[in-house]
Amino acid sequence: MDVLEAMRARHSVRQYLDKPIPADVLAKLRNEVDACNRGGDLHIQLVADEPGAFDCAVAKYGSFSGVSNYLALVGPDDDGLEERAGYYGERLVILAQTLGLNTCWVGLTFSKKKARIEVGPGEKLVLIIALGYGATQGAAHKDKPMEKLCQVSGDMPNWFRRGMEYAMLAPTAVNQQKFRFTLETDGRVRAEALRGPFSRVDLGIVKYHFEQGAGAENIIWAE
Ligand SMILES: Cc1cc2nc3c(=O)[nH]c(=O)nc-3n(C[C@H](O)[C@H](O)[C@H](O)COP(=O)(O)O)c2cc1C
Repeated sequence: MDVLEAMRARHSVRQYLDKPIPADVLAKLRNEVDACNRGGDLHIQLVADEPGAFDCAVAKYGSFSGVSNYLALVGPDDDGLEERAGYYGERLVILAQTLGLNTCWVGLTFSKKKARIEVGPGEKLVLIIALGYGATQGAAHKDKPMEKLCQVSGDMPNWFRRGMEYAMLAPTAVNQQKFRFTLETDGRVRAEALRGPFSRVDLGIVKYHFEQGAGAENIIWAE
């Protein structure tokens, strides 16, 4: 399964089987965690075999069960942290999908107190991503119409449309899809987070999807 196939196959999964992640799969994930930490100036941690974070009422209420592995998205508490956590976290989510695992981004429905996460001085925990073998593969989310999520004057180039198609497959908090991509008249692409919970994390996630769909070589981001 390649990255684009994994983006199409990925859906949030909240119920997991009691099946440990084999050592070779964990090693592949850890390699990618290290690459993301270097590339994104982050302190992402892969926590395996640790059921405490989801052993709480709020997780059960959120219908989570059997979660004993997760990625903790931690990094220096700066302005760009949320977007970087989204971008690199989704890169890990998509790798996990290609390795036959399932995932769910979790901003709220876990216990910060019980989780085994290292947060150093000047660092912040943004959120976590549940990881494991799902009881199901999840289901496709509802989408807003593409024209509500982007602005293009004139004809939409094919690469931009493909970027949008993949951005729309991305997970967003409460499926809010509070993002907008604009194709500027000079050909650059502006990506914006609109108002909503975790929308700056969502922005990083959808930019990763857009890049994969459109082809990074076609995009010059407008800052
Ligand atoms: C930043 C972020 C935070 C999220 N937080 C939670 C959460 O606290 N609890 C939960 O059950 N799902 C959470 N989700 C999962 C979303 O509800 C889910 O991604 C969305 O409904 C779209 O569905 P899909 O992932 O199956 O495409 C979160 C997703 C994102 C991107």
